[in-house]
Amino acid sequence: KDVKLKEVSGILLQAATADSWSKIQTFEAKPDDLLICTYPKSGTTWIQEIVDMIEQNGDVEKCQRAIIQHRHPFIEWARPPQPSGESPRLLWSTFCLSYICPYSLPLFLYVARNAKDCMVSYYHFQRMSQVLPDPGTWEEYFETFINGKVSWGSWFDHVKGWWKIRDKHQILFIFYEDIKRDPKHEIQKVMQFMGKNLDEAVLDKIVQETSFEKMKENPMTNRSTVPKSVMDQSISPFMRKGTVGDWKNHFTVAQNERFDEIYREKMKGTSIRFSMEL
Ligand code: A3P
Repeated sequence: KDVKLKEVSGILLQAATADSWSKIQTFEAKPDDLLICTYPKSGTTWIQEIVDMIEQNGDVEKCQRAIIQHRHPFIEWARPPQPSGESPRLLWSTFCLSYICPYSLPLFLYVARNAKDCMVSYYHFQRMSQVLPDPGTWEEYFETFINGKVSWGSWFDHVKGWWKIRDKHQILFIFYEDIKRDPKHEIQKVMQFMGKNLDEAVLDKIVQETSFEKMKENPMTNRSTVPKSVMDQSISPFMRKGTVGDWKNHFTVAQNERFDEIYREKMKGTSIRFSMEL
């Protein structure tokens, strides 16, 4: 595939996003919007399903009303937001950097995933995505990722930027690894953040319905409706593994040492801590 990224404000973006980038600036946020922000491959789809399940009070049928991408319109692509009467609007954005996020009004839900697993997930995603560049070999991709030469820019800048402003806006900052370790606890946090109060049985149901196994089988979440010309899931499925620590199956010892060194340098001065395994 011959696909190239386009640079906008110093950040590489997928062509479709680059072309509609200005729409971000004109989008009007409302105070009760819930905006999910993530670096790619950090568990966006997972948190979207969790949020919608909470919003629908655990009603599975209602969550089957549309594919997940349509239940959380992607601001960058200016997908039509839900009817204006529907509130709160559940939205999704991959704003490259916190400082270019033009809104302060809505609730932000930021999900972060450890860089090593993110890199692995992104590598396989680029192999199968027909609208992102070919990742090359794993060795080549390793360099591409640490240099931030991927769509949406550097993992380091994205995560650091949002972590830095987490107390300034209404941001709930959560970790993929924490949801994996104790889904009920994290789902409860999201529920409280959304101002909802669901009973134990509903929470348990949400935990079950948003498990990797369930979401992998669910056509509303597994991207099976996306045409092969966009995502070729015969190369690598969208719901690939859903684990913490898959990086160990990809990183060589030398790559790991090098990565740790670069990580220390790039993340110097930030207090954020990730689990790399469970
Ligand atoms: P892997 O490639 O490591 O399997 P995003 O939605 O931001 O693109 O992130 C996709 C990653 O989240 C993939 O990671 C995918 O398998 C994982 N994922 C999706 N739903 C999940 C779930 N319910 N539980 C755990 N991981 C999930």
